[in-house]
Amino acid sequence: MASEEGLSAASIIASLETHFVGQRIIYYSTLLSTMDEAKKEARRGAPEGTTVIAGEQTAGRGRIKRAWLSPKGSLALSIILYPSIMHLPSLIMLASLAVVRSIEAATGLKSQIKWPNDILISGKKICGILIENEVRGNNIDYAIIGIGVNVNLRTADFPEIIPIATSLSDELGRDVSLLDVLQRLLVEIERLYLILLTGGSLYEEWRDSLVILGREVRVKSGETVYEGIAESVARDGSLLLRCFDGSLAKIVAGDATLRA
Ligand code: BTN
Repeated sequence: MASEEGLSAASIIASLETHFVGQRIIYYSTLLSTMDEAKKEARRGAPEGTTVIAGEQTAGRGRIKRAWLSPKGSLALSIILYPSIMHLPSLIMLASLAVVRSIEAATGLKSQIKWPNDILISGKKICGILIENEVRGNNIDYAIIGIGVNVNLRTADFPEIIPIATSLSDELGRDVSLLDVLQRLLVEIERLYLILLTGGSLYEEWRDSLVILGREVRVKSGETVYEGIAESVARDGSLLLRCFDGSLAKIVAGDATLRA
């Protein structure tokens, strides 16, 4: 069974306990990428919280120009927000924590965050997050939070990802309700966003959920590769890496690999 329900905008909104996140759903059974569709909507002035969802993506994309596998049974969504520039660094924290919380609430599975925003179960990727913004000077036109969760994805059907990816159905040995995971995710996103808007911080919880702190890592940032101990993260989300030569590197964006 690929997924039990066949999601629709009406079924998602019917019992969704949010005020604005997900209260407008644009659902496609097949789409190239929810990111592009959400961008078009944001440029047309879509209400905050508008969410584009695809049953499957044929050109899903990840960070650093990577492709994102997004067949039927996985969850692919992009949420439009209009935050102020001061909240921009916190969106990574917000999205990662919302995914961790909603996976646990829906399935009981505990996941961890690998800096900056990969979600892992048993060391393998269960979810990827892509945030794209349109910034003009000190103003943000919009921010799009793209989230892909491997819900009912049989990794055995995709041999190339078996070493690096897992899914909720693989972990549990049964399918999981896409609707339940999605609704919990939208509720958590709104809850955490409202914390930010009312002056709260997500930094401590995000920092404490990171799997890499205190561990030996290799970080690729652009063309530069750093190796050392992941010492801490700063409030702006950057990684503080104690390199093996003793220097401290502050890495704003990159891709981290845990060394054995
Ligand atoms: C990554 O791990 O590199 C990020 C993956 C992000 C995938 C999601 S799926 C929904 C949205 N649409 C896309 O094309 N990408 C994001």
